[in-house]
Order: sequence, then structure tokens, then C-alpha cells
Amino acid sequence: MVNPFEQVPLDRLRERTSIKWRFFEPDVLPMWVAEMDVVPAEPITRAVHDAMLRGDTGYLHGTGYADAFAGFAAERWGAEVVVERTALVSDVMMGAFELIRQLTPPGGTVIVNSPVYPPFHAYSVHAERQVVEAPLGDDLRLDLDALEAVCERVGGTAPDGRSRAVLLLCNPQNPTGTVHSRVELERVAAIADRHGVRVVSDEIHAPLLFDATFTPYWTVDPRGFSLSSASKAFNLAGLRTALIVGGAETADDLASIAEVVSHGPSHLASIAHVAAFAESGAWLDAVLDGLRENRALLGRLLAEHAPSIRWQPGEATFLAWLDCRESRVADPAARPDPGYIGLSSGPAKAFLEQARVGLSAGEAFGTGGANHVRFNLGTRPDVIEEAVRRMGAIA
Ligand SMILES: Cc1ncc(COP(=O)(O)O)c(C=O)c1O
Repeated sequence: MVNPFEQVPLDRLRERTSIKWRFFEPDVLPMWVAEMDVVPAEPITRAVHDAMLRGDTGYLHGTGYADAFAGFAAERWGAEVVVERTALVSDVMMGAFELIRQLTPPGGTVIVNSPVYPPFHAYSVHAERQVVEAPLGDDLRLDLDALEAVCERVGGTAPDGRSRAVLLLCNPQNPTGTVHSRVELERVAAIADRHGVRVVSDEIHAPLLFDATFTPYWTVDPRGFSLSSASKAFNLAGLRTALIVGGAETADDLASIAEVVSHGPSHLASIAHVAAFAESGAWLDAVLDGLRENRALLGRLLAEHAPSIRWQPGEATFLAWLDCRESRVADPAARPDPGYIGLSSGPAKAFLEQARVGLSAGEAFGTGGANHVRFNLGTRPDVIEEAVRRMGAIA
């Protein structure tokens, strides 16, 4: 199969109208938001096209999504999905939002392991919960002692019987690509259980594994939840739907999810995601091969053009977390600022203004993010090369 990252020429990418290629001025190379520069797998295009031709554009019905995901999880991760313990939601973050609201009382706490995907903060605030960080360690892995201390402080049972706190895990971690191990996750589950904290694990990047073993959270914690979607791995963010998968003791929680939530996901999106999980494995493997090459390329290019930027490649996903603390673009005044989505401080600002490369600013990912940028590897190798050359000129 041809490298999916070499299939679309740059001028055709520039014709795309989604946010990645339209947010910045045309002379900026967009290396930021988590979209990949690929054409979707043929079975997905065919399934959506056929549905359109049959006029099959109504409301969603049935368990097709959960069935397809169950097949994928069994094949890729050796994990069993009990379809009765799943719920469809409109997208992963709305799934997180609903679970946070259901599992904790108003004013409760969401624990996050920063640096982490900035909407974890924004959606928790939107749900009127406070956010408390239990940051990753310097090795970019979970710091279980720090997590235990935070759970001890903010956990426990609220007067209405709900948990005071939810831990919103990100596995694999966006932005670092860390894949939490089974042993780590079992310890997380034990900590959560000791302190009455419920766990929700965002596993949207899990199909994009390099040589790591992935453990779905629902398999280690009977009271835990995972959130999954084909959206990142199969590049379907424009066709939104996602799945909650609950552990063995979550039937009551799942039954309590308001019925209106199930009205969010779209039928056509579900058709696309089913074709992704059930029929697009060969395409995913080609994407993973392309990403392996892009990762090796990024390592070589950084060594050659921007040696002040450090990078510890993660075990999953198309995002590279670049440490610019030793670089000329480091900003001594840069501070974590999880409320902020803009690109107006730290190295991302310098790279945008002086090098015309659009990156995600690490500051927005919370503690551990200052003077880092997130670089999207899901693009053409020549775009990666040009971006690193431009960055190297000022770094
Ligand atoms: C960790 C993580 N969770 C959730 C999302 C967004 O998913 P959705 O569009 O299904 O809410 C992203 C998108 O980049 C992500 O990286």
C-alpha cells in the first residue's frame, strides 16, 4: 500500500477547509491540531457514499458501533467488550463531560495528569467542576505517589453518595504519547478505589500504537470507564461519534446516563466509524508504517537542524512533544496556562511569528507544558522537513 502521508500533494492539502489548513495564513505550515493529512480508508468512503446513495441519512439505531469496536478491541488488544456495557455519545469530550457530571456532584473535582490535552481542563470547567493536577513525572509517565496524594486530598464520598472526584486519564497520553502500562493502571485503579475516586480514561489515540501493549481501562477497574472513537486513528474528526465502555460494575451508571445523550451521535458518522473499526485494519497498518518513518525522520531532522530541541518519542500517536527549554526560543516568562487556547506566548509564538510554523503551545497543556510545543507528525515527510528546517533557523 502506498504511504498514506505521500498521497495528497501540498496544494491539495491547502484546498482543505477544516481548521488545520484554514486557521493560519497560507505561508504558515500547520503542524498543530490533531488532524492527519491523509485520505480516509477506502471502506469508510465507500460506506458513507453508499449510505448517501441509498438515502440512508436518518437517525442512528442499533449496536453496530459497539459490535465493530468489540471486534477491533479483541483483535488488536485481546480485550473483551461487553456490548451491553457501552453507550454511544456524540464525541469523546462530550462523553467525558457527561460522565464527569454524572459521577461527581456540582463543585466536585476532576484530576488530570498534566501535561494533557487542554480540553480536559475546559470541559471540566464547563461542567462546573474544579481541576486539580497530578502531573506526570520527568520521565513523562504517571507519578503514582503524586496521584495518591491528590486522590487522598480531593477524593471521598459526597453527601449525595457520589464521588467527590473523577480522575480523567489520557491513555495514550496526548501530548507525550506515553502508553500507561497494565501495572500502572492496576495501581491507578487501586489508588482510586482506596480514595473513592472514579476513573474515566480517554483512549481515543489507542489504535495508533507503535511497539507498546495497550490495556483498556475497563479491563482493570470494574468501576472504571473508557472512551473510544475511530476519530483520531482514522482521521474522522469531521464525522463525530464515540463510545463509552464501562467495567463490570458500571451497569447502573450506564443506565443512568440521560436518554438525550444517546441522541447526539450521528448515523452517518457511525457508519463511517463502523467501516473504520471493522474493515480498515490494512489502512491503519499503512498509517502506522508511515508514522514510524515520520518519527525516524523527525529524529534525524532535529539532530541536524535543531539540536537544542529535545524529544523523547512516545509509544503511540502522531503527536511529538518537543522540549524547547534549552533552545533560543525558550521564554523565561512562559507559564502553564490551561485556560488558554491561543498561540500568543512561549516558543509556539516565536515559531509562528519568526519561522511561520504553526504548533500547539505547550503552555496550554498545564504543568509540565511551559516551553514545550506539540508537533503533528501526521503529514507529508517534505512538510515535516520544511517545518523543522524553519524551526531550526531560530531555535
Ligand atoms: C486525547 C483526546 N481526546 C479527545 C479528542 C477529541 O475527540 P472528540 O472530537 O471525539 O471529542 C482529542 C482530539 O485531538 C484528543 O487528542
